[in-house]
Amino acid sequence: MNDNLWYRDAVFYEIAVKSFHDSNNDGIGDFNGLTMKLEYLKNLGIDAIWLLPFYKSPLRDDGYDISDYYSILPEYGTMEDFKNFISKAHSYSIRVIADLVINHISDQNQWFIDARSDKNSKKRDWFIWNDTPDKFKDARIIFIDTENSNWAYEAGTKQYYFHRFYSQQPDLNYDNPEVREEMKNVIRYWLNLGLDGFRADAVPYLFKREGTSCENLPETHEYFKEIRKMMDIEFPGTILLAEANQWPTEAKKYFGNGDEFHMAFNFPLMPRIFISLAKRSNRSIIDIINQISDIPDDCDWCIFLRNHDELTLEMVTDEERDIMYNEYAKLPKMRLNMGIRRRLAPLVDNDRSTIELLNALIFSLPGTPILYYGDELGMGDNIYLGDRNGVRTPMQWSYDRNAGFSKVDAEQLYAPVITNPNYHYESVNVESELRISSSLLNWMKKIIGVRKDYKELLGRGAIEFINNKNQRVLAYIRKYENQRMLCLFNLSRRPTYVELDLSNYKGLKPIEAFTKAPFPRIGDLNYFITIPPRGFFWFNLIIPETDDSMDFEGEDNY
Ligand code: BGC
Repeated sequence: MNDNLWYRDAVFYEIAVKSFHDSNNDGIGDFNGLTMKLEYLKNLGIDAIWLLPFYKSPLRDDGYDISDYYSILPEYGTMEDFKNFISKAHSYSIRVIADLVINHISDQNQWFIDARSDKNSKKRDWFIWNDTPDKFKDARIIFIDTENSNWAYEAGTKQYYFHRFYSQQPDLNYDNPEVREEMKNVIRYWLNLGLDGFRADAVPYLFKREGTSCENLPETHEYFKEIRKMMDIEFPGTILLAEANQWPTEAKKYFGNGDEFHMAFNFPLMPRIFISLAKRSNRSIIDIINQISDIPDDCDWCIFLRNHDELTLEMVTDEERDIMYNEYAKLPKMRLNMGIRRRLAPLVDNDRSTIELLNALIFSLPGTPILYYGDELGMGDNIYLGDRNGVRTPMQWSYDRNAGFSKVDAEQLYAPVITNPNYHYESVNVESELRISSSLLNWMKKIIGVRKDYKELLGRGAIEFINNKNQRVLAYIRKYENQRMLCLFNLSRRPTYVELDLSNYKGLKPIEAFTKAPFPRIGDLNYFITIPPRGFFWFNLIIPETDDSMDFEGEDNY
C-alpha cells in the first residue's frame, strides 16, 4: 500500500493543547503534557492527531487569532517541546496535523499593527480597506451573536477593514502576491518542523469579489491547488484537510480533480445524522450520501459528530434547523450563532445506545472518522461558560484533584472541570473507565479495533444502500475487492425488524463483526432480522466453511 495514502485508513483525534494535560502546573495544558499522554492515544487506537491552533495569540478566538505565525504560545511550551512532541508521536506511528489559520490573523499581529498605523505602510495592502462599510454586502456574517458587520472602523487612518469573523481578526488580502507567498512560507516552516499536514481553517472565504457571497470563488480554489502542488513536491505524504462548511455541491469542490484537498470535513452529513435520529428515519442520511459520494480517487470525507465549535446548522433548511433545536437544544443557552454548543453525550441525553449507534455510523460510513477529545469518555459540557468554551473544558484523566489534568488550585485552571453530577469527572474519567470493562471508553477502544480489522473495507469501500420498507432502519453494504460488510442501524427508540432483499449476496454468511457471532446464511427468502432500540449490527459477509447447524458449537467468550 502506498503510504502517502495513510489518511484514508486512519482514525483521527482532535486535541486542544491547553485542554489535554498540564505538565508544569500552571493550570493550562502544554506540549509536554500532551507528550506524556501519547501512550493513551496509542492504546486507544489513534493514528493521527489534529491540533487546534497553538501559535502565539491574544486568544480572543481561542488561538484562531494568530499574532505570530512562527512561534508557539509560551503557555503551551517551547519550540523544543513541540519538536519533542512530534518526534515522540512519530515514534508511536501517530501523525500530527495542525490548524492553518489562513483567512485572517489577530489585530495584535505585527503585520496588522504596521498596516493600521499608516495608509502608506508596506503592509497596508495585506488587508482589505474601504472608506465605507458598504463593499461586499452579499457576504454573510458568521458570528451573528457578536458581530453586526464584516467591517470595523480603524480610527487612526479613517478607513474600515474587512473581517469575516470577530472584528479582532482582520482578513488577509489574497489579491496581494506577498500574502500568498507568506502563507506558503508559513506552511513550509511548520512542515519542515515535522508536521504531517494541516487542517485549513475557514477555507471558502479567502478571495472576495463584489457582487458575490465572497465564498468558494474560483481564485480561492486555484490558490489551494497551488499550495497542494507545493506540498506534493516539497513535502510528499503531507495532507490538507478543508474546513469548508458549505452546501454539498460547494463542499465537494474542495477536492478539485484530486489536486486540491486530500480530505474535507463532512459538514453536509454531520447535521443530517442527527436529523435522521430525530426523525427516526433513514432518509436524510441516504439523500445526503447519494449527493456527496462521487469524489475523486484518493480523496476522503472526514466524518465527525462533534468538534470544538458549535454544532453548526448554517447549511440546513429552516425546517431541519427547527427539528435540531427542538430535539437537541431545548434551552437558549445551548445555542450559539446558528448552532448548538454541546458535547456529544449531553446532546443525546447521555443515552449510551445512541452514543454507540452514532459512533458506529461514523466508523462505518465512507470516509475517515475523527473523534473530539473527551467524547470517547462521554464527557459532559458546561453551557454556562461563554462562547464555545463549554465544550473545551479540561480532559478528565482520573478522579484526582482537577480530574488529574493539573495540580493547581481549581481556581487557577483555564476553565473549570465538569462537576455536574451526571457527568462528574469523578466517574467520567480515563482511569475509572479503563477499570470497567463495560465503560464507553472500552467500547470505543473495541470499535476502533474492529474498524482496524476491516480498515480498507470501511475506509475505502463503496457503499450500497439496501432498500427496505422500514425507514427506521438504515441498511447498507460496504464493499471492497472481495470483502463485504452489511451495516444495520435502528434509528428509533423502539425495537424493530427489517426484511432485506439480499439476493445479490445469496450463499454468504453474516458474522457479527464485534463478537464473531454467526448468523444464518443468506438464502432465497428476504433476510429477516430484529434490532433493539437504537441498536446496530455490523455483519461481515463471508463464504461459509461450515453448515449453519454448527453455529452454536464451540466456545462463547462473550
Ligand atoms: C474555527 C473556529 C474559529 C473560526 C475563525 C473556524 O471555523 O473552527 O473555532 O472561531 O474558524 O477562525
